[in-house]
Amino acid sequence: MVNSIKEKVVENIPKKTHSRRSRHLDFFRGFLRNPEQVGSIIPSSRFLERRIISLSELGSARTVVELGPGTGGTSRAILQAMPADARLLVIDLEPKFIEILKSLGDPRLIAHTGSAVDLTAILKQYGLESPDVVISGIPFSTMPRSVGNAIIEAIRDNLALGGRFVAYQFRGHVGHLARPVLGNPGVAFELLNVPPMRLYRWRMGH
Ligand SMILES: C[S@@+](CC[C@H](N)C(=O)[O-])C[C@H]1O[C@@H](n2cnc3c(N)ncnc32)[C@H](O)[C@@H]1O
Repeated sequence: MVNSIKEKVVENIPKKTHSRRSRHLDFFRGFLRNPEQVGSIIPSSRFLERRIISLSELGSARTVVELGPGTGGTSRAILQAMPADARLLVIDLEPKFIEILKSLGDPRLIAHTGSAVDLTAILKQYGLESPDVVISGIPFSTMPRSVGNAIIEAIRDNLALGGRFVAYQFRGHVGHLARPVLGNPGVAFELLNVPPMRLYRWRMGH
């Protein structure tokens, strides 16, 4: 089991441009358009968000990447927990979700429409340093294995030494895919989410 860690909350709280309810509706519409890609009918619960934040150790992070932010509940939680001078790059395949993220208007946030598989090129495009944390909510179970492998390899190639990769998934695919590349993860469970979620954490070079 992975230890949970208390995170510093910064004052730079994102603007409330979309209510939680309207984000749920946008998320569900996104699911109807692309069920396999979105992989869930509702966004993560507050309990899961808190667990992700705790495992990510964002307090000292300079560069954070979120793969598959959806309508941004998790991204808001990350922005609240990370330092005022850190950057958050979010990458999602769904342009409508990225539009919602952009409307947050947080100067620390870079919202990019594209695939996690292009992580290396996207980091380069924005001149970002090696991320201290990569957080993933993407559904590895519904994508071709070769794509999943390429995403895991891109994470390994880019994470800073001591960096954390935190992934959450209902099924265990990300654990199976990443074990041969990143080693054995710490594993936790969050039952207060629909569906209950597994969380995995790897640390580079440890
Ligand atoms: C289950 S949702 C997670 C949403 C959000 N992080 C949350 O916890 O509520 C998964 C998201 O991953 C995105 N996604 C799926 N495959 C992707 C890929 N290869 N690259 C980037 N985003 C991807 C989907 O569009 C969707 O927004």
